[in-house]
Amino acid sequence: MRTDYAIGIHDLSFSTTSLVLSHAELSRHNGTDLAKYHVGIGQRAMSVPTLDEDIVTMAAAAAAPVVERHGTDRVRTLVLATETAVDQSKAAGIYVHSLLGFHPNVRVVEVKQACYGATAGLQFATALVHRDPGQQVLVIASDVSRYDLDSPGEATQGAAATALLVSANPALVEIDRPSGLFTSDVMDFWRPNYRSTALVNGKESIAAYLEAVDGAWRDYSAQGGLPLKDFRAFCYHQPYTRMAFKAHRQLLETCGEAPDDAAVEHAVAATTGYNETVGNSYTASMYLALAALLEGEDDLTGESVGLFSYGSGRVAEFFAGHVRPGYREHLRGDAHRAAVDRRRPVDYPAYRELREQTLPTDGRWHDLPHQTQGPFRLAGIRDHQRVYEAA
Ligand code: CAA
Repeated sequence: MRTDYAIGIHDLSFSTTSLVLSHAELSRHNGTDLAKYHVGIGQRAMSVPTLDEDIVTMAAAAAAPVVERHGTDRVRTLVLATETAVDQSKAAGIYVHSLLGFHPNVRVVEVKQACYGATAGLQFATALVHRDPGQQVLVIASDVSRYDLDSPGEATQGAAATALLVSANPALVEIDRPSGLFTSDVMDFWRPNYRSTALVNGKESIAAYLEAVDGAWRDYSAQGGLPLKDFRAFCYHQPYTRMAFKAHRQLLETCGEAPDDAAVEHAVAATTGYNETVGNSYTASMYLALAALLEGEDDLTGESVGLFSYGSGRVAEFFAGHVRPGYREHLRGDAHRAAVDRRRPVDYPAYRELREQTLPTDGRWHDLPHQTQGPFRLAGIRDHQRVYEAA
């Protein structure tokens, strides 16, 4: 079912960090067979932040080109989704609002539910635009994923931000109704407030994700959603890219179809290009998959794309996007490829040294070294306050 008038993603831009650690380098350090990384989990590299990069600098860098193209006049809501917040009280989006020169008449809020947060933001945004189609909502997803050094999760780390401008008559993708929803209380992956790295029950987290694919699809069908055959491709949350292939096999089984390798490849392969080199960007990950799909070679005009958003803990949502005529003219493929390609490679010792540096907590003034090559930076910590600047 479609809305009375189209509402959806008008612009999509992403950013990542200045540094990259390859899985070849990681496997040299820990002796893991490289094929486990390249084939087993489908990862080739991970984005690594410099000391002066964080979710705010990535979020502002992702949103800046959107603001440059569309201005800020119609944006009255800015939602920033993250599970790696920099403050327990203040919304990170307020720093972005300031760095990008938004006018004051904007509501800014942060949302969290593991890797699902941005999809909640997107759905809230469609409701706001439905209420007043003259308004636009900027939804930003920004995360830095960190696991303990030398743990199995370390190979799935990454970092990125996506900025989605949500509006009526969108240029890229209409967000269709209904949604299939699935929530239940499990401890598959979590991060207590006193930890900077996530805790995870690895194998259970995969099972929890696959159960959620089944549950969300069943609800989607019960709500009157499209049949499987109407979808051209599927963007799944990608904690590592092989997970998308597992997820689609699960969906075929749920639908009573044979989990045929060629069908899985056709549905998913074009969505993994960015995530396999950026790593897990948590709540941004599914939207990097969407960027890769739209910027790929196939013309998707008029096609339906399945979107499966998963947040550990756990909340999942399946919904459809309908690709708009003329979408190709509005894509940012060159800028996205440049952002990925210009990252500076680091060796394992340099990565480890960065991981071991923590920001000071003593309340004194600390200026940070200028390391980022991005447009915004965390300049320092002063009186327990983060100070950002244009780089
Ligand atoms: N060549 C080719 N393939 C190989 C191989 C080799 N030499 N060695 C191993 N493999 C394969 C394995 O067969 C396995 O494939 P299957 O999954 O198809 O069985 C795959 O590589 C991974 O191998 P292991 O299971 O032995 O790997 P591991 O013990 O290191 O754990 C992991 C993998 C559980 C994903 C771990 O990286 C982890 O804990 N990651 C973080 C949690 C996570 O990403 N969970 C996903 C669902 S939760 C979620 O989606 C939310 C979120 O963002 C975190």
